[in-house]
Amino acid sequence: MKPDTALIHHDYLPPGDFTSPQIAIHKASSVFFPDVQAMRERNWLDKTGYTYGLHGTPTTFTLEERICQLEGARHCVLLPSGLAALAQVNLALLKTGDGIMIPDNAYGPLKALAEGELQQLGISHQYYDPMNPQSLADRIQPNTCLVWLEAPGSVTLEFPDLPALLQICQSRLLLTALDNTWGAGVAFRPFEFLPHSAGGSRGVDVCVHALTKYPSGGGDVLMGSVTTCRDDLARSLKLSHMRLGFGIAGNDAEMVLRSLSSISLRYKTQDETCRTVAAWCLQQAVFAQVLHPAVTSSPGHAHWCELCAGGVAAGSVVHSGGAAAGLLSLRFDPALSQGQIDSFCNALKLFKLGFSWAGPISLAVPYELKKMRQYAPPQLLQGGFVRLAIGLESADDLIADLAQALSVID
Ligand SMILES: Cc1ncc(COP(=O)(O)O)c(C=O)c1O
Repeated sequence: MKPDTALIHHDYLPPGDFTSPQIAIHKASSVFFPDVQAMRERNWLDKTGYTYGLHGTPTTFTLEERICQLEGARHCVLLPSGLAALAQVNLALLKTGDGIMIPDNAYGPLKALAEGELQQLGISHQYYDPMNPQSLADRIQPNTCLVWLEAPGSVTLEFPDLPALLQICQSRLLLTALDNTWGAGVAFRPFEFLPHSAGGSRGVDVCVHALTKYPSGGGDVLMGSVTTCRDDLARSLKLSHMRLGFGIAGNDAEMVLRSLSSISLRYKTQDETCRTVAAWCLQQAVFAQVLHPAVTSSPGHAHWCELCAGGVAAGSVVHSGGAAAGLLSLRFDPALSQGQIDSFCNALKLFKLGFSWAGPISLAVPYELKKMRQYAPPQLLQGGFVRLAIGLESADDLIADLAQALSVID
C-alpha cells in the first residue's frame, strides 16, 4: 500500500473504552456500513442506527435527547437556527389551503415568514391579540389548522393566559406550537402545564426553542430545536426535516451540549440581575413603563405568577419568586424625542447594541413598536422603546451604565 492510501486506510483504531464527561464531536457526511444488508436495513428515524451525517451522529442524537430531557418531550429535531425551527414546523405540518394563527407580539421573523413564503405556498395567516383569548376564539377560520403561541411576547413581553389559549385550541382540535425560547424548559413545563388533561394532552403539541439563546449561552452558536411528545407529529417533522436537508454541525452540537449543564445557573443569574435592573428602572421617572413579567404592573403579570411562580402573587413591585429570564423592555416618557433615545442607546458602554439574548454580554435594541403591532393598547405606542437583554455582568455595573447613559440625555 502506498503512503497516501495507508494514511487514509490506516488500520490503527484507538481502544473503545474511553469515558469522559464531555460528549465526543462526531463529524460525518459518509457513514460506513459493514455490508449491503446493513446498508439496506439501517434506520435513522428511531435512532437505532446511523445512515448519513445529515440524519444524525452520536453527537446530534445525544443533543436531541438532552433537549427532550430539558423540555419534557419525547422527540426532537435540530436545525441551524431558531428561525429555521419555526419554519420547519410550518413546512412539515401544513399544506396549501391551511391557515395558521399568530399572536400579534410573536417573534417578528415568524410574521415575515407567514407574509412571505407561507402565503406564496397558499397557507393563510391571521393575527390575534394574545392578551385576549376571545380574540383568538373569534378569529379562528374554517381552514385554521395550527395556532402559534409565545410566552411572553417578543420585545413587549406581555405574558398571555397560556392555559386559556391552549384550551380554546384543544376544544377545536387545533394543533398548537409554542415558541418556548424565553421559558427555555426552565420557567415552566411546556408539555404539561394544564392542571387536568384536556383532549389527552396537558400541554402544547410542539415546542420550538432557539438554542441560540439559553442552551448555547455563549452568543456564539446558532441553532434551533423542534420537540414534541406526539409520535405522529414527530414522524412528519423528521421526514420533512430529512427531505429539506436541514442539519447542524457536530462542533456546534458539542458547544451546546457543553453549555447545557449550566443552563439553570445561567438562567437564574440573568433572571436575578434582570429583576434588580428592572427594580432600579421602576424608580426612574424617565421610564413611563417597565415591561417584565415579574414586575407587578407589567401586562399579564398574574398569568406569569400562575405559570412560572407557582401561583403565588407578588409581595413587592418585582416578584422575587419563580423564573422570568433576562429580558426587560423600557418605554420612555413620550416627552423624549427618538433622537434623545438614540443618544441614550449610543451612550451605553457595557450594554452593546445588538440583536439576540441570553449570552454573557448585555445587549440593547431600540424598536419602533408602531410598525410592529396591530393590537397594542394605544398607550404602549407612545414614547420610544428599548429592549434590554441582560448578560452575566454585575447588576451594579449595568445600572451604573444605564445611569450614565441617561445623564447624557438629561
Ligand atoms: C423568541 C424568539 N424565537 C426565535 C428566535 C430565532 O432564533 P435564531 O436567532 O436562532 O434564529 C429568536 C431570536 O431572537 C427569538 O427571540
